[in-house]
Amino acid sequence: MTNFDIVPNRRNSNSIKWLRYPKDVLPMWVADMDFPAPGPILKGLHKAVEHGVMGYELATPALKETVAARMDHLYGWKVKPEAVVDVTGIVSGFSVAARIACTPKRGVLMQPPVYNEFHEVKTNLGIPQIDAPLVRHVNGNILSYEIDWDIFERQVKKAGMFLLCNPHNPLGKIFSRKELLRMAEICIKNNVLIVSDEIHSELLLGGNSFTPMARLSSEIAKHTITLIAPSKTFNVPGLFCGFAVIPNGDLRERYQREVHHLRLHVSSMGLYAAQTAFSGQCDGWLNELRRYLTANRDFLVQYVAANMPGVRLTNPDATYLGWLDFTQTKINGSPYEFFLKNAKVAASEGRIFGKEGEGHIRLNFGTSRKLLTQGLEQMRKALTKIK
Ligand SMILES: Cc1ncc(COP(=O)(O)O)c(C=O)c1O
Repeated sequence: MTNFDIVPNRRNSNSIKWLRYPKDVLPMWVADMDFPAPGPILKGLHKAVEHGVMGYELATPALKETVAARMDHLYGWKVKPEAVVDVTGIVSGFSVAARIACTPKRGVLMQPPVYNEFHEVKTNLGIPQIDAPLVRHVNGNILSYEIDWDIFERQVKKAGMFLLCNPHNPLGKIFSRKELLRMAEICIKNNVLIVSDEIHSELLLGGNSFTPMARLSSEIAKHTITLIAPSKTFNVPGLFCGFAVIPNGDLRERYQREVHHLRLHVSSMGLYAAQTAFSGQCDGWLNELRRYLTANRDFLVQYVAANMPGVRLTNPDATYLGWLDFTQTKINGSPYEFFLKNAKVAASEGRIFGKEGEGHIRLNFGTSRKLLTQGLEQMRKALTKIK
């Protein structure tokens, strides 16, 4: 049994999460968790260090087989090992896809409020960003988000690629099969490449399940690049290793060529961690983690309902990210600034996920219950002091 209640002191590491703000600020922003990676991963890395030689290495056929086998095991999705392309991370993975699918005339379509790095693609590549914002529904104090199909159908026509975030960061939404099928159908009809960022797909909360977009049909798989990684699930994001699963041979060749041109090599430590993470050896740990994160999510939702009148939030299906709306409170201006100053809590500024995030924050609950409680208590106290 892993005791997720005990988290190491990260201030004595180089963690960006823990070092960006002064010592009296509790960091609840960037998406990594405060838990050590599972034992088998750490053991594998120790073994590599003990060997001592840190030479060049490539993803082995065995690693690609392991990734393909995990897709089959989790989803009954049969992919050939050669369809698996290793990438230095998921951000590089979708940036490469944009280089082959987008032009100054056909941009990248996305569904804000969405992961801040999605918004950088346009700047990095000099292509247009096409937004099809998700539409918000409020039930009591719970927020949920849906697709506006008219907007989606209209915007897709200007795109070369649709960058889907599923499960969605920061909203924690897992898109339904029906939604996925309809989005795919519209993209395929309009000759738009689907790039499905599924980095959070194994961080399922409660009884939720997940199906990769490309698993839905061979026709969809032909038009889709699926991006997966062990980084979020097993908390090894600093090792920078991810995978693009591309069943379509022509598309894969173009993608691989671009990866090669850019010299996007993965570090050997990242490759080792991925091999162990996807082998199934860490799945017991993962089940315990999911139970812990589910309890944290439930605690967050109940805490906000009971102690923060007027605050609305998502009840995420997946991820360790909460999305909190302060537009109905007395906070004047940015809630991120407000809590940083008055509660000494550093959340993520909602605005970085798109203009729809104005008045919101993203809160990382991938930490011990004690630290989560401390952060929420500090926020509650700050709210009660507003005149
Ligand atoms: C949706 C999503 N994609 C990609 C990433 C980052 O991926 P990487 O660090 O592998 O580039 C994150 C990290 O928070 C994320 O939430």
